[in-house]
Formats: sequence, structure tokens, C-alpha cells
Amino acid sequence: MSNKADVAVSYDISNDFFRLWLDERMNYTSGVYDEGPHAPTDSLELAQMNKLAILHDYAHIRPDTRVLDIGCGWGANLQYLAVDRGVREVHGITLSDAQHQEIVRRRIPNVNATVCDYRDYQPPVKFDAIVSICMLEHTATPAQVRAGEHMAVYRDYFRRAHEWTQPGAHFALQTILRNSIPRNRKDIEDMAHITYTMFPGGFALRLAEVMESASRYWEVIEVKTRRLDYLRTCDEWVTRLRRHETEIRERYGDRVFEDYDRYLSACVTAFDKHYVSLAQYSLRRL
Ligand SMILES: C[S@@+](CC[C@H](N)C(=O)[O-])C[C@H]1O[C@@H](n2cnc3c(N)ncnc32)[C@H](O)[C@@H]1O
Repeated sequence: MSNKADVAVSYDISNDFFRLWLDERMNYTSGVYDEGPHAPTDSLELAQMNKLAILHDYAHIRPDTRVLDIGCGWGANLQYLAVDRGVREVHGITLSDAQHQEIVRRRIPNVNATVCDYRDYQPPVKFDAIVSICMLEHTATPAQVRAGEHMAVYRDYFRRAHEWTQPGAHFALQTILRNSIPRNRKDIEDMAHITYTMFPGGFALRLAEVMESASRYWEVIEVKTRRLDYLRTCDEWVTRLRRHETEIRERYGDRVFEDYDRYLSACVTAFDKHYVSLAQYSLRRL
């Protein structure tokens, strides 16, 4: 799985860098444009709020629900739950020091966020709900996938989530899906750039792998794929990135701009050509 150094490559360049092209709350995962309280919308900001509202409902969260967000990023979902939805106890873990600094900077009430590898996590309470937004992709490395060791890693992730929760708990999960392999050299090289340069240690799962590994511990209640929402989100990200090209080149170097421009453009192609998709799941504890 991605270790701390791998995660630093993906998330620790600079919080101000990500602030330039993500939405204002810094969600680093797909928004939802056509469903949710603000749908339909063309705004990335509102699409991100739709996504968080949908996952809130998938996890059956109420103000007195104790929630854990596994892989909580810069805290967008923690803030949404604690501030916008009045949830009184929200916990989050991330493996990125920079992300944790941003969460602390926000001083969000009722939020307890720590830098912790999920494999070392000792939960202070039993949770009533879990949310995990595009973190499962970090759990098994490409080498583990090639060696056939990945399913045990995914099952272990769902087993831990089961162990950390109360009977009756719900789990709102979002993952990128690996669908098909590109047939031309440029797309193959661009996909390798995303996997090995931008997100070292991570690998997207197939839908069947998520279903099979989750189902020993969690009943799958609902699954919705949202390929076009992620295409639109990446398209917006690359537009915003390019709007800040001069500043990014000056402050972070040409290599950073070029790597991110290539990766985000390749994501648009990958969603467009069905190489990858996105899924959201509502799971109930067995
Ligand atoms: C693509 S980001 C998504 C962040 C956030 N959920 C969002 O929607 O913006 C993946 C997150 O998983 C976290 N992560 C990766 N590996 C981890 C691990 N082993 N333990 C805990 N968190 C991890 C990263 O630190 C990052 O916050």
C-alpha cells in the first residue's frame, strides 16, 4: 500500500498549490453534478456539496452519529458533517502531514483528526458510521496486485472497518474503478504516469474486487456509478490549473505544472474512454 513517503508525493507539495485549483473546501475527489440538494449544477463547489450530502445519506448519519472518515484529505467532509450537518463527534485519519496541518488550521469544532496509517489506527470509540472517499485505492500496491496479494489487503481493510463499528453501522464508500486497458501507446504511458508518478503505491480496483472483498463484512445496499461526474470534475480541475499556470510555474516549478497538467488531462481521457469509472456504495454492517 501507499506508505507515508508515497502519500507525501501525492498530497504534500503545498496546501496553497492544491487550493489554487480544487474547490474552496479542497475536496480531492469527484463531485456530483446531477443529484443532491444543489442539482443540477455547473458549479464544482456545489457538485462537491452534492457528493458529501449523498455520502452523508448513504452512511445514515444523524447529529448523534459517531463518524469516522478514513482518508479524510484536507477535511472537507469533516467540516461538512460537523458544521453544515451538526454532527457532534467526527473523527478523521489521513496519512498526510500537510493535510492534517490544514485541518488543524480550520479549527473545526467537534472534529478529531489524526495523522495515522489505517493499519495502525486504535479508535477511541466504536463508530456508528464510516465514510471513506477514494482512499481504498491506496491500500494495495501494483506489486501486490501483480502478485495476487491484493484481495487479502482489501478484505483486511473492510474487516478493520467492521471491527471499529457498532452493530447496525453504515459505511459510505466511494472508489475509482479500473475498467479497461488502453490500446494505444500514449494512453498507456499516461495511465502509467498517473499510477507510478502521481500516486505511487496505489492502484484502482475493479468493481468485482470491491464487491467481493466488502461482502464478507458489509452488505452492499446500493451502488451507483458516476463516470461522467468524475470526467467533469477533472475537466474543471485542469481548467483551473491552467488558469494559474504562470503562478504555478513560478512558485512550484515547471515540472509540477507539467506533471499535474498531464495527469489531469489524462484523467479526462481515461473517464471519457471508460478506462476508469467511479462508484459510490452504501454498505450495512453484517
Ligand atoms: C484521494 S485522497 C482523498 C481525500 C478526501 N477523502 C477527499 O475526498 O478529498 C486519499 C486520502 O487517503 C489518505 N490515505 C492514503 N493512504 C492512507 C493510509 N494508509 N492510512 C490513512 N489514510 C491514507 C491520504 O492521506 C488522503 O487523505
